Order: sequence, then structure tokens, then C-alpha cells
Amino acid sequence: MNQLIITGASSGIGRAIAARFLADGWRVLNLSRRPCPEPGVENLSVDLESPASLETLAESLPGRIDGEGRTCLVHNASIMRADRIDALPDVDLRAVLELNLLAPNRLNQRILPRMGAGSSVIYIGSTLSEKAVPGVASYVIAKHALVGMMRATCQDLAGRGIHTCLICPGFTDTEQLRALIGDNPETLAAISGMNAFDRLIAPAEIASAVAFAAEAPMLNGSVIHANLGQRER
Ligand SMILES: NC(=O)c1ccc[n+]([C@@H]2O[C@H](COP(=O)([O-])OP(=O)(O)OC[C@H]3O[C@@H](n4cnc5c(N)ncnc54)[C@H](OP(=O)(O)O)[C@@H]3O)[C@@H](O)[C@H]2O)c1
Repeated sequence: MNQLIITGASSGIGRAIAARFLADGWRVLNLSRRPCPEPGVENLSVDLESPASLETLAESLPGRIDGEGRTCLVHNASIMRADRIDALPDVDLRAVLELNLLAPNRLNQRILPRMGAGSSVIYIGSTLSEKAVPGVASYVIAKHALVGMMRATCQDLAGRGIHTCLICPGFTDTEQLRALIGDNPETLAAISGMNAFDRLIAPAEIASAVAFAAEAPMLNGSVIHANLGQRER
């Protein structure tokens, strides 16, 4: 049976991806601290910021991977912190890099050996994988680095029949975004107006892009913009 292994499907975009793959008949295994609320999803609890928690996961993970069908591994879990390049303590940057880069690397080391031809590794980036805005330095650094991780994945796995891409959502209507916006309708209007359709993206739309990418080896090595068209000012 085909299987989706995804980080951060307890909410937002990850949850929508899990729901989409379930509906498409895939087995779904979620890795996050809270379980995914979608019935039918299997959950392994892990704090991806904690190397010790990942080590514990590493013991149980191999037995949960089905080596038979195709695997789609989606590196989705992330958080956006408010920080600046001139006030970014090492300890804070290290925590962000643990979650966004080192956890995907450790999972790649564990899962790639079990992935056969037709499988895929999909990274979830951001509009901020290719540009910066003020006040979210660690997020910008981590999301830019994911471009390199995806491109290295493409080069180093060439010939194995495994493809990769980085999907970069624009503003998507999730818990993370709502927490940033608060109850302020003016902020919501300003954020919605930053793309050519003047609305937020639905998590299910990003899930459709991931489902398409999982079936599309021709996209190997691509950075995919999923942002409704950013308005340039
Ligand atoms: N929403 C947007 O506008 C937007 C735009 C561009 C890119 N993105 C990207 O899309 C992805 C999903 O974002 P979202 O908006 O759906 O966020 P979300 O609703 O806040 O979900 C984030 C997920 O990451 C998991 N996570 C966070 N820290 C974790 C940790 N230490 N250990 C394990 N899991 C952890 C959370 O699970 P637990 O809390 O249960 O652990 C949760 O399932 C992220 O990569 C984000 O950067 C989002």
C-alpha cells in the first residue's frame, strides 16, 4: 500500500495533506507532538525540536514503515518566530534549525533506505524561501536552507527513481496564520490583498499541490510557488 509519512499533520496544511492522501487511498503516518484529528491517520508522538525525542522515535519508526508500496515523505512541521538578525541568540536559532532542517535530515537518514522507486520527498517551504521580510530572521534562514536541501536531495538521489520538490505556500488560512493575525480585520485584509486573488489560500489547495507533486517525477528539483500570485509593489 502507498504511504504518506508527514511531519506536523496535527493542524493546518499538514492536516489537510493527511486528509487528502487518506481520501486518495494512502496509508498516513503523522509525526508531531499532538495527534492528527483525521480518523484513520496513524500517529507517532515526537517533539521534532528535541534530538532526544527524535532518537526515541528512531527506535519505533522502522517497524511502522511499509517497505512495499510507494512512500511520499513530506517535511511540513515548522513554526514562525518573531526575531531579528541583530537580536538572534544562538540558542533560539539552533532550536529553529533543529525543527526545520536537522529533523528533516534525521528523518531522511531513517526513511530513505526504505523508499523504493516511485517514492517522493516533498519539502514545504514558503514565499520566504526566496525573499526576506523584516522580523522573522530565523524562519527566513531556515526556509531558504530548505531550497538547498531539496536541490541536494534531487542530485544525490538521481537514478533511484525518487523525486523531490519544494512547495512554497503563500498566506494560507491555518492556525499559525490566524495566531499571527489575531482578530484584526484590517490585518486580514492587508494580508489577503498581497496576492492577485485578494484572499487567503485554503489548506486543501496546498494539499492538492502536494498530491499532484507526489505523482509527478517531472517536477524533480523544482521550487513550486503556490501563492495565488504575489502582487509586486
Ligand atoms: N500558513 C501559512 O500561511 C504558511 C505560509 C507559508 C508556508 N507555510 C508552511 O506550511 C507548513 C505548515 O504550516 P501551518 O500554517 O499549517 O502551521 P500550523 O497550523 O501551526 O501547523 C504546524 C505543524 O507543525 C507541527 N510542529 C511544530 N513544532 C513542532 C515540534 N517541535 N515537533 C513536532 N511537530 C511540530 C505542529 O504539530 P504539534 O504542535 O502537534 O507538534 C503542527 O502540526 C510550515 O512549514 C509553514 O512554514 C505556511
